[in-house]
Amino acid sequence: MNDEPRIAEPPGGLPAELRFRVTLYPDPVLRRRALPVQAFDADLRDTVQAMFTRMYASKGVGLAAPQVGLPLRVVVLNATGEPGDEITLVNPTILEKTGPETLLEEGCLSFPGIYAEVKRPDRCTVRAWSAGGEEFERSFGGFTSRVIQHEYDHLEGVLLVDRMSAADKLRHKAALADLVDAYRRARAGR
Ligand code: CO
Repeated sequence: MNDEPRIAEPPGGLPAELRFRVTLYPDPVLRRRALPVQAFDADLRDTVQAMFTRMYASKGVGLAAPQVGLPLRVVVLNATGEPGDEITLVNPTILEKTGPETLLEEGCLSFPGIYAEVKRPDRCTVRAWSAGGEEFERSFGGFTSRVIQHEYDHLEGVLLVDRMSAADKLRHKAALADLVDAYRRARAGR
């Protein structure tokens, strides 16, 4: 589902509109339980906008704040790519998951090139706040519901690697080890 390989970044850093880089596995920020947003202010709206920009530039359909290094309970998604289908969830709670469990291949911007089938209930009902501070409750089905459940996992520090089967984990063993190596090398170079 969501996340495609990252775009090449230009030399000399990111253009201003791409304020955020995608945090890759196994960065520990991805494992922390994200904290509730306290202030529905201009900073939050800027962050949400910059997350959408990053998500579209990376050809993803969803992005959670820990994936841009922010330990906050903020999710943006657009399951269709149509301008009217943008969804922002601040401090979301999944009130209920219903329907038959379905198996679908998922990707994740934090695991470039790695895809695995994940089983999830078809529908979910969510309570959340908009970036403007309006509370709402809404039910989602199908692909949108799946994206929401995947992104919500990020807020709890749960990752694609935790949801994949043992067989997929084995199949992706080398790719996962490469990500760990790249992370260690990047840290050592700092
Ligand atoms: Co993800």
